Amino acid sequence: MKTLGLASARTRRLFTRQTLFIALGICIFWVLGMQFGGDVSERFTELGNQIPDFREQPKRMPTHNVLPPLTERVACHGPRGHLLGQNPDDDLEETELNGPYPTPWTGNYEETGLDLTMMNVDQRYGPYGYGEERVDYNRSRVDWDQVDWGQLQNDCFERNRHRFPIAASRFDDTRITPPRFAFRHFAKVPEVRHWHEFEPSRRTAVVVRAWRGFEYLPEDMHYLRSLIVETALKTGGEYQVILLVDMKDYEGYENNIFASEEAYKKGLEDAGVPPELQSIALLWDNRFLSSWYPRIEEHMTIWQVFQPMQLLALHYPEFDHFWQIELDMRFLGDAGKMLDRLSATARNEPRKQSLERASFLHMISETGDYGEFFRAVNESNKGGSHAWGPIRVREILPIGPEPPVADPRDEPFEWGVGEDADALLTAFCQNANTPNDWLFKDWIYGLRTGVRTPRFYCPPAIQRGSRALLLAIHQAQLEDGIRIPSEATLASFALWHGLKLSFPQHPVFHRDKDDEENKQGWWRGGPLASSTGLGPDNNSHPRGHGLTFWWESNWAKHVFNEWYGRKLSDKEPRPWLIKEFDGKLWLPNMILHPVKHVTNQ
Ligand SMILES: *[C@@H]1O[C@H](CO)[C@@H](O)[C@H](O)[C@H]1NC(C)=O
Ligand SMILES: *[C@@H]1O[C@H](CO)[C@@H](O)[C@H](O)[C@H]1NC(C)=O
Ligand SMILES: *[C@@H]1O[C@H](CO)[C@@H](O)[C@H](O)[C@H]1NC(C)=O
Repeated sequence: MKTLGLASARTRRLFTRQTLFIALGICIFWVLGMQFGGDVSERFTELGNQIPDFREQPKRMPTHNVLPPLTERVACHGPRGHLLGQNPDDDLEETELNGPYPTPWTGNYEETGLDLTMMNVDQRYGPYGYGEERVDYNRSRVDWDQVDWGQLQNDCFERNRHRFPIAASRFDDTRITPPRFAFRHFAKVPEVRHWHEFEPSRRTAVVVRAWRGFEYLPEDMHYLRSLIVETALKTGGEYQVILLVDMKDYEGYENNIFASEEAYKKGLEDAGVPPELQSIALLWDNRFLSSWYPRIEEHMTIWQVFQPMQLLALHYPEFDHFWQIELDMRFLGDAGKMLDRLSATARNEPRKQSLERASFLHMISETGDYGEFFRAVNESNKGGSHAWGPIRVREILPIGPEPPVADPRDEPFEWGVGEDADALLTAFCQNANTPNDWLFKDWIYGLRTGVRTPRFYCPPAIQRGSRALLLAIHQAQLEDGIRIPSEATLASFALWHGLKLSFPQHPVFHRDKDDEENKQGWWRGGPLASSTGLGPDNNSHPRGHGLTFWWESNWAKHVFNEWYGRKLSDKEPRPWLIKEFDGKLWLPNMILHPVKHVTNQ
């Protein structure tokens, strides 16, 4: 920051009235910075950016960008050859049980618009083959090896093509049409692409992160089939599921998957992808990442889970958004409805204070409904906002829009409503520049302000990024080697660019729901106790082992397995969340993570 300050001073005559005013301004800024968030560096970075910038300025997005709704979905064929919704064998039976629905520990069903339904395991996964080996399986059986999920998705897209703009396209089977992925020096696409080169396609890629050596057990297949049917097929092709396969440790000299079409095809055979999924598989390896990002040595998932995703956006820009989905997740309701609701909730959220709302947990037991939560965040921010337009970082030339008014306090929470989020998060965000226990806080490269650069981390990296955002991150990584850890990447880049960020607070439950001390440890007084309005003053919170959705949870797997009909540990009592009724076990509509498959079964 010193260099930045000096550079700007030298361009002006010393001791003029103007300089004095600037100096005074800096002091005021500094004092304000101390009071507002203690986040002085952020404000100095803003000042640094007032130096004339001679770099070519990128095109900024328009201030308003609301897209019209799509026309009605045309039904598609499922794996049994029937149109979905017309045959009970294919359908989920989402049930409303009598009695009260459990209240989420954090998040809600009202604002997110999620159904208050429950399912047992037969209802949930029966259509996808759960129980098919039993004599009492009363759905028609499917020869899964004969199913081609790529074909089904493309057929569905064709039936619905008229609903989409011209920019939308099918996803080609890479066994037939070679993949677009190639090493940088043989690139089949421009090295850098910009948001304004593309028209909306209105399609979202649901990208499942897989790897060579992953053992696809029946329960993984039930999950993947449900994901494809419910997101892609039931929505008339608004989603496209892609299996993005890390070829892990396959890179001997002779195993260079991008050396030739034959080598890639051999890679597909060696990738261990089940036959029914091969047409939606797209392979990559470390060499591919190194070739595109030579200025970044580290490609490990924990640091750079979005690198393959960035390259997917570069090579397959016919998707507006890209969901990073993990194999160790389970959607206990309709997965397509869940992704739709998360997307719609984010779309309906105003930009103003969306970062602030994402920095607190909505806990019904503490603050009431989401409206109360919204008002509390506003009150603690005195109607203002910490992120109004881009948060300036010297190296980043923002592409996001100019705010409609200069002062957020003059804006009635309308800006951004109806616009898709560029960074859609599934958990709350913490400020990396206030004292915290974040393990990765020093892992930042390529930025002059180093650890003083404003950053927010929002684990897990199960998030959705827009094409615009991913292309911008790609450019920053390629040209300037800018990098921060995975769980901070989408949120921080979105803020630096002034793109829309949203955390729709989906329902999460806790093993120890009645542990008041634990609850207070997470609530931390909520928005009204926060001196900055941007997250609780104390960043520390209890461990999240008992949460149904949290990177370090170990309860999620107990919930899933017991509902699934097996017990992982005699010491673990039956999760209170499971309802027993009619001789079956039921769970509410939510996302579980992490749930890894059980191998010793
Ligand atoms: C299968 O049987 C159960 C009752 O055991 C019933 O609830 C369900 O509707 C049946 N499913 C189909 C597809 O017939
Ligand atoms: C937000 O806070 C400001 C300042 O306290 C207040 O004037 C405004 O009415 C609030 N808006 C809402 C929607 O609560
Ligand atoms: C912050 O929270 C942690 C964990 O809940 C607690 O141990 C610590 O004492 C708190 N720190 C302050 C300054 O209140």
